[in-house]
Amino acid sequence: EQIEKGGYDHFMLKEIHEQPKAIRDTYRGRLLRNEAIIKMAGVEDNMKKFLNANRIIIVACGTSWHAGLVAEYIFEDLARIPVEVEYASEFRYRNPVITENDVLIAISQSGETADTLAAIKLAKSKGAFVFGVCNVVGSSIARESDAGAYTHAGPEIGVASTKAFTTQITVLSLIALRLSRAKGTISSSDFRHHLLELEMIPKKVEQALKSDAHIKKIADIYKNVSNFLYLGRGYNFPVALEGALKLKEISYIHAEGYPAAEMKHGPIALIDENMPIVVIATKKGHYEKVVSNIQEIKSRKGKIIGIVTEGDIQVRDLADHVIEVPESLDSLSPLLTTIPLQLLSYHIAVLLNKNVDQPRNLAKSVTVE
Ligand code: AGP
Repeated sequence: EQIEKGGYDHFMLKEIHEQPKAIRDTYRGRLLRNEAIIKMAGVEDNMKKFLNANRIIIVACGTSWHAGLVAEYIFEDLARIPVEVEYASEFRYRNPVITENDVLIAISQSGETADTLAAIKLAKSKGAFVFGVCNVVGSSIARESDAGAYTHAGPEIGVASTKAFTTQITVLSLIALRLSRAKGTISSSDFRHHLLELEMIPKKVEQALKSDAHIKKIADIYKNVSNFLYLGRGYNFPVALEGALKLKEISYIHAEGYPAAEMKHGPIALIDENMPIVVIATKKGHYEKVVSNIQEIKSRKGKIIGIVTEGDIQVRDLADHVIEVPESLDSLSPLLTTIPLQLLSYHIAVLLNKNVDQPRNLAKSVTVE
């Protein structure tokens, strides 16, 4: 097992560090920047289904559901296709309205999650077209889908999902970009710009990983608190949910993720000098609005950990700590902002002596409902 961990203390840490390669492997052969095209057989062969779709329904669980939420922003923003994101476990029992003109995208690392598989069967029985985004080749969900695209993350052993999340976002971004081009909702220069920015993500993830030692120090300061709040807006709202899930899973500290602007509708009551609040405040994502949320937190003495764009000054002045990530497009920023949140939860769990790779009560894939 020591050998399999490749010199890292835990699979989770290894998998966090594998993300530059995993993301590159996922777009390799699909993103052809010189020719300015995206090539994905599963999308190409079913282009009519996608273009004629009334809407896209995304079903998933846990972290994969968070990737689905990011995808909702990308598909609506770039491809102008209405999207609904559903917990598979709710969707399958809700007697949902599904028609032949719906496209259902099922996202699953393992491809074995029972609720997601059942949601696929239900959608197929109503005539919807089902597209699977899985990591495990030949898995049940991959086999049950009408078509699909694999993430090329490689085996993910740690129960807490890391590289599966970022590679899911990579695949979903490629699909959204391909459909945007086909629909003409993106200009050719914007399309090229997106391809270029996506190709630069692995290098930028490497850069983000360099904050590891700094994040470990922050983890040490807050490891004994009982509650954490995570806030983000737009593309980074799902990242806030994912950051909170990571912390809960492996450190057993209660954490909640919220859209930043929802804070004043409830969670603000929790804020005092004992409450650390992780706020994703990157430059392009409603920055000024998030800064004003940070000011509200500060006036209530909450401890602010800001995830900011390199060179940020404004949040640095207000926050107790900042963690920098390189600048990117708003739509691609989740691939970067999620990195420090993975590392923060990892270091807190290690400092608390928890079983990082196999947290209590959790299984890597949930094959029973
Ligand atoms: C993530 O850290 C979790 N362990 C869990 O939420 C997971 O993402 C969920 O069970 C879905 O699994 P899947 O992607 O294999 O379907």
